[in-house]
Amino acid sequence: MLLSLLLLLLAPLCVTTAQDEARKPGHVSVIILGSTGDLARKYLWQGFFELYTNQVNSGHSFFFYGGGLSPANKSSLVLFEILKAVNCPKDVSKERCAILKEQFLRLSRYKQLKTLEDYQDLSKNIQKQLQQEDMAEAGRLFYLSVPAFAYAEIADRINNTCRPSKGAWLRVVLEKPFGHDFKSAQVLATQLGNSLKDEEMYRIDHYLGKQVVANILQFRMENKKHLHPIWNKHYIERVEIVLKETLDVKGRIAFYDQYGVIRDVLQNHLTEVMTLLTMRLPLNLSNSREVLTNKLNIFTSLLPLSKSQAVIGQYQAYQTEVQHELNKTKDHVSLTPTFAAVLAHVDEAQYEDVPILMISGKQLDERVGYARVLFKDNVFSILVSKNVFKPVVDSEWKEVTEHKDKNITVLGLPISDYYVQTPIVQKEAYTELISRIFAGRQNSFVSTENLLASWDFWSPLLTGITTLFPRVYPGGNENKDMLDIAVKGRDLSYINEVVLIKQDQMGGQNVNNFQVMQGKFRSDEMVSGWTEELIEKLASDIEEVAEKAILESGVFHLAVSGGASPLALFHRLRCVPLTEFESNFHSLHDHLLQHVKIPYYNIHPMPVQLNQRLCVEEDRGTWQYEEEIRKFVNASSFHFVLLGVGYDGHIASLFPGVKPEDHGENMVVLTESPVKPHQRMSLTFNAINKARKVAVLIIGKYKHEVVIQLSRVKEETTQWPVTWVKPEKGSLVWYMDYEALLG
Ligand code: BG6
Repeated sequence: MLLSLLLLLLAPLCVTTAQDEARKPGHVSVIILGSTGDLARKYLWQGFFELYTNQVNSGHSFFFYGGGLSPANKSSLVLFEILKAVNCPKDVSKERCAILKEQFLRLSRYKQLKTLEDYQDLSKNIQKQLQQEDMAEAGRLFYLSVPAFAYAEIADRINNTCRPSKGAWLRVVLEKPFGHDFKSAQVLATQLGNSLKDEEMYRIDHYLGKQVVANILQFRMENKKHLHPIWNKHYIERVEIVLKETLDVKGRIAFYDQYGVIRDVLQNHLTEVMTLLTMRLPLNLSNSREVLTNKLNIFTSLLPLSKSQAVIGQYQAYQTEVQHELNKTKDHVSLTPTFAAVLAHVDEAQYEDVPILMISGKQLDERVGYARVLFKDNVFSILVSKNVFKPVVDSEWKEVTEHKDKNITVLGLPISDYYVQTPIVQKEAYTELISRIFAGRQNSFVSTENLLASWDFWSPLLTGITTLFPRVYPGGNENKDMLDIAVKGRDLSYINEVVLIKQDQMGGQNVNNFQVMQGKFRSDEMVSGWTEELIEKLASDIEEVAEKAILESGVFHLAVSGGASPLALFHRLRCVPLTEFESNFHSLHDHLLQHVKIPYYNIHPMPVQLNQRLCVEEDRGTWQYEEEIRKFVNASSFHFVLLGVGYDGHIASLFPGVKPEDHGENMVVLTESPVKPHQRMSLTFNAINKARKVAVLIIGKYKHEVVIQLSRVKEETTQWPVTWVKPEKGSLVWYMDYEALLG
């Protein structure tokens, strides 16, 4: 058994001593920019109110400006409503709370901060207040809760107009993202450096405010006697730093799609935790310089990451969310990872070959965050059931021995197998960080040097994976073991490399002179080859079916889908190359029909536009089309149906969530697409499955993950509509090019 030291990042377990550094009393001006935004509303005002309640008797006086771009007559009331909603800490009586809130409201005001003059005016206001109160100035705290592109200009204005009087401090708080790679972070740092000194910048990583994270060093220090001898490669099997989330990123894709999980979580939150676990312990924990330098040393000791040390994934619904939120067409493919596991190593004798795993993702099976240090089995035979040692309990933390739910397990062990500690008073990360900004504790923030060192570590990997296709995972419990990973030496891989085809069925032979291979996919016939040969084979198969049909009955009925996949086929079925397409029918028309001799009355586009409007039920377009099929197609059974598969597994216009029963006996229905245009008309599974031959054409590297997914899904499922394609009497053939098949 491996013994582990576990720090639950989302449910505090360790110790804290947030001692404010002594400051000389004076007047403090707090200016929150973006003061009515989401972050300010949720956390910042609450945090500053708690700071105020803690400091009200400290001799300091305060004034709070809620800054924003809109004029005061628009936003004052909004701010007032936010301020009214702040809560007192639990230990404050009702009466005192009412007084404190009233004072806080009186000391807070909305101020438009848009132009240079607005900033000059702000500074004048502060001066006036200082004179009125006859107070010395202690400092000015600017909290920039605004998009990063605005940082440089605001910092410049602060520098030019709002610097405090001599002897008082200036602190400017910044929220991530601080760039998206080394270069952009460096540019931003240089711009900020033109206006602010390094010690004036407080870059927030809210994980550093989480009580457990904030106390990792303290914990290591207090338990040094036990930990020091075993904190090395001889005893540590591996380190895991994990943040699993069940949420998706709907609503924030404009941001997320440019960043992805590595930039959003690994580069900052998980890296911070990793450095706190591995850095050399400082002699003095409250010496910010020493802490930050020791952290920097770990960064410089990290071995460069290569592509083989990372795996990435993307939850299945992400593509459609991107298309929807970014207004992209259905051909748009995003390679942004929403899941990543990365294997790092520290090039120091102490940690030689100790794997450090950092893992995070959205739409996973559970919400949990932890850092775990696993110790090797054989060395610690005396320490069996409970954890590695009994940790010291600090005065601000208590040991938990009674658990509400006794059956709860943590990483496979019953909770009673762990020593659990929890803070006596739980604090919100932002509240904790605000008190640390006020106390000037820079070691709880990201210094310029450390930020650049972190990007220096992550950027090469980020560049390396830009063209890598993430493994698509269905999301939630459906993920099963799809994202399980294995460490092999210094490399990392998914445990399950999916077997696509039964090898014994793959001949590799020349079929009908085409360089294609026949095989099986999902128990049906599969034809694969390089795109050109594959298309040639498909065209010849269609021709063969057509000839046979004509011989038998004098007619041949072919149903074709829209999308990009069949375009190459359309070109093959005609002789002249041509241009763009807009609608599915246009594309068919432009790419095929106008180049072949088919009378127009033999072509039946779906009547999607009747009475000058698109797909409206009462226009009865579906009924009309169904009538056409009944009239022209013998037994409503097409000779050949050609389909493509979407990134989300949709076929025709049947999107995830539908199943055959939904459409009863109907052959044509109106459906709703998650991407524009939303209203669609589609053949139903019923109509498709009546066909004599159905071909599913899958082309291109970006379809590889769909192919992998489909090879894993055994049963029919609403998540992958294509799995319901099962011709009742006919056959289904998968046509896949090598890029789709092999990635
Ligand atoms: C944020 C990321 O920084 O951290 C989010 O942008 C992520 O994507 C969040 O969900 C996680 O923080 P917490 O405090 O909810 O664990």
